[in-house]
Amino acid sequence: MCRRCGRSGVLLPPISLGFWKNFGDAAPYERSRAIARYAFDHGVVHFDLANNYGPPYGTGEETFGRLMDDDFRPYRDELFIATKAGYDMWPGPYGNWGSRKYLMSSLDQSLRRMRLDYVDLFYSHRYDPETPLEETLQALVDVVRQGKALYVGISRWPLEALKFAEKYLRERDVPLLIYQGRLNLLDRAPIEEGVLQFCREHGIGFISFSPLAQGLLTDRYLNGVPEDSRMALNFSLKQSALTPKLLQKLRELNSEAIARGETLAESALKWVLEQNGVTSVIVGVSSVAQLETNLKVI
Ligand SMILES: NC(=O)c1ccc[n+]([C@@H]2O[C@H](COP(=O)([O-])OP(=O)(O)OC[C@H]3O[C@@H](n4cnc5c(N)ncnc54)[C@H](OP(=O)(O)O)[C@@H]3O)[C@@H](O)[C@H]2O)c1
Repeated sequence: MCRRCGRSGVLLPPISLGFWKNFGDAAPYERSRAIARYAFDHGVVHFDLANNYGPPYGTGEETFGRLMDDDFRPYRDELFIATKAGYDMWPGPYGNWGSRKYLMSSLDQSLRRMRLDYVDLFYSHRYDPETPLEETLQALVDVVRQGKALYVGISRWPLEALKFAEKYLRERDVPLLIYQGRLNLLDRAPIEEGVLQFCREHGIGFISFSPLAQGLLTDRYLNGVPEDSRMALNFSLKQSALTPKLLQKLRELNSEAIARGETLAESALKWVLEQNGVTSVIVGVSSVAQLETNLKVI
């Protein structure tokens, strides 16, 4: 069921689990635990985290650390664990963007919160237009040399910076394992901008975040905004995004999915997974039932 990640030895499940929103202190621990256990028991062995996942920041990783102790420690070698640094994490000039200072100390903090000796994958979470790319990339090389990460990735870097990163890392024998970008039925930028093609041609895996557009590409918002939905509960998905035009498009996509005997969520995930060069999609789920539905596509 797993797919090869670019030209590497790493195999990833087609559906991976993201810890952005539903694993922090704001979520009930037993619900997060049930989701993670269900995931692992059904072959979802890749968990995607970042220093600032929660809310509040850091608590997605803390929950993961608790899960390690409660459930997963005996299975550490069966899991592929990623974390990232790049967004604002702590006050002052050293808790954000792409400096060596920030990336190195952030990874140390992440390892403590996650109760791990090393992560399988460490990402630069975003492109920093101010820091020399060499500095950011050398920090990625060095965390691998230090044994704190086995592989490195980048997320949301523009194509020209991706090209630079691919060459820089390859020349230092720490090849770029994977690129993380947003690709879904409503946002095809990685295809339009040539990122997916570059990854495919250079043996770099591609993993899509928000493949369901944070829940828009499901039946969640077709008839109003449910009280327990991400749109109702936090700011990353604004109600203003749900324009009459978008709602109309979502209803059309839903009708097309139903005509094929699928849910909108299933057809949205299938579409991403069918794009040439995509290794995996990272879903966020707020219940075991949602994950169960999403896993039907594989
Ligand atoms: N690299 C980056 O910059 C970046 C950025 C964003 C995310 N990510 C990663 O990608 C992961 C996924 O992002 P995301 O959470 O935005 O992904 P998503 O899968 O597009 O959206 C997740 C939300 O969709 C809804 N949903 C999921 N499955 C459903 C189903 N079967 N039926 C109905 N609703 C369903 C749930 O909403 P409700 O909560 O309303 O139930 C869930 O919280 C994150 O956890 C993170 O690991 C990375």
